[in-house]
Amino acid sequence: MAQEDLFKKLVAHCKEYGYVFQSSEIYDGLGAVYDYGQNGVELKNNIKKYWWDSMVLLHENVVGIDSAIFMHPTIWKASGHVDAFNDPLIDNKDSKKRYRADVLIEEQLAKIEDKINKEVEKAAKRFGDAFDEKQFRETNARVLENQQKWDALHNRFAKALNDGNLDELRQIIVDEEIVCPISGTRNWTEVRQFNLMFSTEMGSTADGALKVYLRPETAQGIFVNYLNVQKTGRMKLPFGIAQIGKAFRNEIVARQFIFRMREFEQMEMQFFVKPGTELDWFEKWKTTRMNWHKALGFGDENYRFHVHEKLAHYANAAVDVEYKFPFGFKEVEGIHSRTDFDLSQHEKYSGKKIRYFDPELNESYVPFVVETSIGVDRMFLQVLSAAYCEEQLENDTRVVLKIPPVLAPVKLAVLPLVKKDGLPEIARRIIDDLKFEFNCQYDEKDSIGKRYRRQDAIGTPFCVTVDNQTLEDNSVTIRYRDSMEQERVAISQLSSIIGQQVSYKNLFAKI
Ligand code: GAP
Repeated sequence: MAQEDLFKKLVAHCKEYGYVFQSSEIYDGLGAVYDYGQNGVELKNNIKKYWWDSMVLLHENVVGIDSAIFMHPTIWKASGHVDAFNDPLIDNKDSKKRYRADVLIEEQLAKIEDKINKEVEKAAKRFGDAFDEKQFRETNARVLENQQKWDALHNRFAKALNDGNLDELRQIIVDEEIVCPISGTRNWTEVRQFNLMFSTEMGSTADGALKVYLRPETAQGIFVNYLNVQKTGRMKLPFGIAQIGKAFRNEIVARQFIFRMREFEQMEMQFFVKPGTELDWFEKWKTTRMNWHKALGFGDENYRFHVHEKLAHYANAAVDVEYKFPFGFKEVEGIHSRTDFDLSQHEKYSGKKIRYFDPELNESYVPFVVETSIGVDRMFLQVLSAAYCEEQLENDTRVVLKIPPVLAPVKLAVLPLVKKDGLPEIARRIIDDLKFEFNCQYDEKDSIGKRYRRQDAIGTPFCVTVDNQTLEDNSVTIRYRDSMEQERVAISQLSSIIGQQVSYKNLFAKI
């Protein structure tokens, strides 16, 4: 199936099975804002737990906070967001549609990359086992020609971004003959900067209301609490502060479902270190975070690091963890070495000393920071993109979400084979017993086959069926979602069989 079709099906599936709904749907929706349904919220909570515990439980020197969404407006001046949290926008004069200039160019780069990959795929099929991809990429004329095009465009683009040269960004769009997908024309305006922060007012206007912002990242709530946590927690460098919370950005190009939203959630961790050690910590966190992703078992080949073309002026290293979504490799997480920029800025703007007294050196300094920052919603989309499968069976097809059991919203469904002979009562007793450990669902409607399909579609890893043999020997069948195999087990074994499979501890052992 074409990847685009697959993505459309996934979006429809999310709605049909209570994962994600368009926000304010009965009022025709609100652009790039989404609500999570009964299954979505469970998956989201499980993702957050996986992240939170991997940070806070597994690292003695990482603690969590929960800071407010509203913060003093000067924080956003200090952080640079008021002056520089901008996207370069360009309008098509015919369709009146607005685009991010950098995204248009990135898409052009992706098209060239696609051409190269298709060439490689074709050759791989042609040559079979004898295919040497490296050699092919280094020698095939068409691949080389496209690679040269890609390199030239990439270098020009990186330079324009680094120089903040908006005219050059426009010129690239013109030279590359990029057309508006709606009007099909090249009738472009100039490129302009657009600030992404939402603002509102605090207090009544009669008192002189204060203009405040909805935070565009959770990280600043961590920076401004650095001293509070360091002092009250008697934290010694290196140490980290983790936070999960909502962030808001007035994204202009809000596309690809929950990939880019206007209201979303972030899981961020700022790791404070001694200056000069930050690049070692950057490497360490890169490895730890990549292991966290790969431990979910979606295939190591689907992840890669993308080194930033343009380093923000405060960063001395930055990479993204990218996942191969149905629409290509895209960022899921950013890992940045942010130097002492943020804390120094807050020192400057607040007039308060934000330092660490290093007992070994007997001196105070502003710590450096390594940040890991991942979007909950984007991680959610990553999990579902990887999990969604359509399988052809002997006489049937099934749609199944192969979500890792530990993250699955419902862990087990308990199904009485028939609605009589005391089977429903036994099924209820099993749920009453297991509901303290696992999210369970009871289902007695329709044939057992239909019930299995319903559970496959929401990604329930285990279906437990109560039948007449249960009345005789207290055994049930347990059906495994991915293999569809069934085995007969004692009711008393369920807790340990399922517990083993949905254990965070087992997952953490892989990080
Ligand atoms: N504090 C650093 C920071 O916010 P970022 O790269 O702008 O860095 C970090 O964002 C992560 O937040 C991204 O990797 C992505 O997963 C998520 N994210 C950013 N903007 C988003 C949006 N509009 N919708 C959904 N997730 C978003």
